[in-house]
Amino acid sequence: MPHKGNVTRHILVVAGSLLAIAVSALVATTASGKAQGTPQDTTAADTAYEAPEITDTASLAGPRQPIFFRHDVHAGQYLIDCQYCHVNVEISPKPGIPTVGSCLNCHLIVGTGIAEVDSVRAYEREGRVIEWVEVHDLAQFVHFPHQVHVNAEQEFEVVCEDCHGQVDRMAQIYQFAPLKMGWCLDCHEQKTEEFGKPVSTDCSVCHY
Ligand code: HEC
Ligand code: HEC
Ligand code: HEC
Ligand code: HEC
Ligand code: HEC
Repeated sequence: MPHKGNVTRHILVVAGSLLAIAVSALVATTASGKAQGTPQDTTAADTAYEAPEITDTASLAGPRQPIFFRHDVHAGQYLIDCQYCHVNVEISPKPGIPTVGSCLNCHLIVGTGIAEVDSVRAYEREGRVIEWVEVHDLAQFVHFPHQVHVNAEQEFEVVCEDCHGQVDRMAQIYQFAPLKMGWCLDCHEQKTEEFGKPVSTDCSVCHY
């Protein structure tokens, strides 16, 4: 986390973040959806996506969060890569949620005048943690190595959307897939059939 008062470092971090947005926008327009987490068929229309204004938050699917953090604004409109925030997604069995400090990489400057952004700054200023409500929560007796799926061999074609839906169009995140045993088995069987390379369905790979 950047040191308070170390202005030079803050400016560097902010510059880096703005660069990251520019770069990810560039990647998304030129690599036609190769970046993980963007739709397969990224078209010119997608890059011009504008997240809608939302007044009625009560009718949105998914649990209400302490801060109205919008994936459609960040990942959809501004094309910030999933990995930029979920940094451990390739290595961790539980990818995790970014810290308030990392929000401030951008929000030290970006979003001035938006009340919800001021609340984010207040958390950082007061040294408080944002207690995000967990959306996904598999039973303890299930072994789900998240990173194995993110890193699945290319021929298996597993992407974030398969399990989380089109997150970059969600104003508030919700559980998209049933997360039941049958759902896991269906995909493992389907991939085995499609690619002729087995994905295990042994009880012991998912249950200790
Ligand atoms: C700017 C940072 C940022 C970006 C970019 C981002 N996320 Fe998130 N993500 C968060 C934060 C903060 C939360 C926790 C708040 C919430 O659930 O809305 C979260 C929550 C989630 C969750 C729910 C976690 C749970 O509680 O089970 C999923 C799934 C997720 N993100 C997937 C994605 C995907 C897929 C992408 C890319 C399309 C993405 N995120 C891009 C910051 C980000
Ligand atoms: C094969 C399905 C699958 C794929 C592919 C997948 N996820 Fe997940 N993800 C899950 C499940 C299931 C959970 C809940 C895990 C748990 O409760 O232990 C989860 C949890 C998460 C969480 C919550 C992390 C936490 O620590 O609470 C985030 C964030 C997330 N996924 C982001 C992503 C991103 C970003 C991608 C693409 C790079 C992705 N996921 C790809 C199934 C998947
Ligand atoms: C890489 C840069 C970047 C990061 C990191 C980032 N944001 Fe943002 N965020 C933006 C941009 C760009 C906007 C749009 C600002 C605008 O409309 O003026 C935005 C808008 C917002 C808004 C207002 C959304 C609305 O209603 O229009 C909130 C709230 C917000 N961000 C919260 C967060 C939180 C919480 C985090 C950390 C988990 C975070 N942001 C991380 C770039 C970022
Ligand atoms: C969208 C498809 C998909 C879904 C849904 C899915 N998986 Fe997988 N899973 C895969 C693929 C593909 C692999 C193999 C990756 C590789 O070997 O490169 C895999 C591998 C695994 C492995 C490692 C197997 C081994 O031999 O070591 C475990 C454990 C696992 N998955 C558990 C689960 C659980 C538990 C769920 C449900 C909560 C689940 N998976 C849902 C596609 C999926
Ligand atoms: C690919 C992963 C995977 C494999 C393989 C798997 N399971 Fe499961 N199993 C799960 C998940 C995920 C749940 C949790 C479902 C829930 O929370 O509703 C579960 C739940 C269960 C439960 C609890 C009861 C229930 O339905 O919720 C039992 C018992 C069980 N599995 C037995 C088995 C047996 C026996 C095998 C081998 C024939 C097996 N499982 C193979 C993923 C798997």
